[in-house]
Amino acid sequence: MLIPVLLAGGVGTRLWPLSRESRPKQFLALNGESSLLEQTLARVSRLDDVGPALLIGNVEHRFVMAEQLRASAMPGRVLIEPARRDTAPAVAAAAFEALAEHGEDAELLVLPTDHAIADAVAFEQAIQRARARAARGGLTLFGVRPGRAEPGFGYIQAGETVDEGVRRVQTFVEKPDKARAAVYLEDPDYYWNSGMFLFRARDYLASLERQAPAIHAAARAAHAHAHIDIDFLRLEENAFEQSPAKSIDYAVMEGADDAVMVELDAGWTDLGSWSAVADAKGADAHGNSVQGDVVIEDSHGCIVHSQDRLVATIGLRDTIVIETGDAVLVADRGSEQQIRQLVARLIASG
Ligand code: GDD
Ligand code: MG
Repeated sequence: MLIPVLLAGGVGTRLWPLSRESRPKQFLALNGESSLLEQTLARVSRLDDVGPALLIGNVEHRFVMAEQLRASAMPGRVLIEPARRDTAPAVAAAAFEALAEHGEDAELLVLPTDHAIADAVAFEQAIQRARARAARGGLTLFGVRPGRAEPGFGYIQAGETVDEGVRRVQTFVEKPDKARAAVYLEDPDYYWNSGMFLFRARDYLASLERQAPAIHAAARAAHAHAHIDIDFLRLEENAFEQSPAKSIDYAVMEGADDAVMVELDAGWTDLGSWSAVADAKGADAHGNSVQGDVVIEDSHGCIVHSQDRLVATIGLRDTIVIETGDAVLVADRGSEQQIRQLVARLIASG
């Protein structure tokens, strides 16, 4: 049985001030009527032979996760992380839970909740291909044709074809620098890692145990001593805190020797930055992307978002203006990667 594991513990700082510590981007309706988490739930509910979903995220967000799970058509459970340790231990805890509930052959479909997928049929087809492969063991990644040099992503170098639409992973590089990402863009064998993975729970755990035994041990203990709190499964705090903080990409994928890649051509877009959100929504004839109560004159290439108040701009070029009830961001589009540092400074200064 295929168990969807939805990763919902990220902070989404580059979409500040809309995405906040109290309500990060995965819980917001950024590109439509429903949140990215709800869209991900809807996508998996249509898959064949799919079991109950596991939503895993931070303790602070347990109620919004439960509320959005309940509103979806998908049966499932919320797993609570008592501390932020990134995605490798989160996926491990979900893997232990899937083994306990569904047995030896449980397969996991790991999904981030910060992207959009336009073509549901192509998505389902890629999942089918990956399942056929994962039944034989090993780790399966989903590769997307790069549209730009993006140092914020992982890169897969695809090798020989092993099945239709499936290639061996030759190397995996998480977050290369800008220069290397530019080189990869010119090479047709390099793909973006979509952040989605499919494997049997036991194959992931075996690879993790070999490469990062401390993460494996912490997740195993935190799951073994987990307790039910209302409907939530709370991982045990002291054990979970022992885990190093590392993403699945660094901890497992970079060093995996048995990984394959299924090509994903399904209109995948990461909604990690204001420009990405604007691209997904589309722009008007002047390259402006606006949302909410906005009046825009003689402005080009701007992203303007109003939540509570009327926002008017005149004569702006390539500027981001994001208005919310208690904070307003005005930034040059070329500087948007610096929003992350800005938010870190704001948090540090209380
Ligand atoms: N449960 C849990 N716990 N989830 C987390 C945590 C955590 O501590 N940290 C992040 N997440 C969730 C995020 O909410 C998101 O849905 C997903 O895990 C991926 O985390 P990001 O922090 O957004 O990763 P990234 O965007 O830097 O990189 C990943 O995604 C790229 C594609 O969007 C990597 O997999 C890259 O290789 C990939 O290219
Ligand atoms: Mg991301």
